[in-house]
Amino acid sequence: MNKVNVAVLISGRGSNLKAILEAEKNNQLGEAKVTLIISNRSDAKGLEYARDYNKKIEIIENSRSSSREEYDKLLIDLLHQNSINLVVLAGFMRILSSLIVNEFQNKIINIHPALLPSFPGLYAQKQALDLGVKITGCTVHFVDEKVDHGPIILQDSIPIFDEDTEESLSKRILKKEHQLLPRAIKLISTPSGKGL
Ligand code: GRF
Repeated sequence: MNKVNVAVLISGRGSNLKAILEAEKNNQLGEAKVTLIISNRSDAKGLEYARDYNKKIEIIENSRSSSREEYDKLLIDLLHQNSINLVVLAGFMRILSSLIVNEFQNKIINIHPALLPSFPGLYAQKQALDLGVKITGCTVHFVDEKVDHGPIILQDSIPIFDEDTEESLSKRILKKEHQLLPRAIKLISTPSGKGL
């Protein structure tokens, strides 16, 4: 069975990246192999994890292109050059154009800190708190042209407590994210459902 070459795209903290790299180290990613880390910011804190785990890093700063399509062309070239079969958005703070979504159809996944289709976009945890929902969670989904939208792969839920703040809630959701994203990578990289 051929390995699935995974690129993880980040913009900041990189705690989900760390969870993926740790899962890989513990042989919990099935056929998936993380071969490239891409960031749109050279100062992304998460790049430290890429270095710790000896992963290849590529930076494409936002300033390298004047349009979304131009940026995505650079991204597509880089992904092809590295024979990437699965793209994982882990806190990558850019909206992808249809150019890359079509080129890598059903091969780009994203993690979002809410139970989609509820609370897409920024501050998903605050949106859930403000509306007073009692259950929220996180979602891994295939990426389409819309923001935080596309077929859902896995979800996990948590209760919201009366005393929760945005910070406490985000922390509890993040813990679940760190389990869910590696599971999803394993699942979709493993033939005939054996990845479950
Ligand atoms: C996570 O909450 C993820 O769901 C969202 O962005 C955040 C990234 O966190 N898309 P980190 O950089 O992985 O720590």
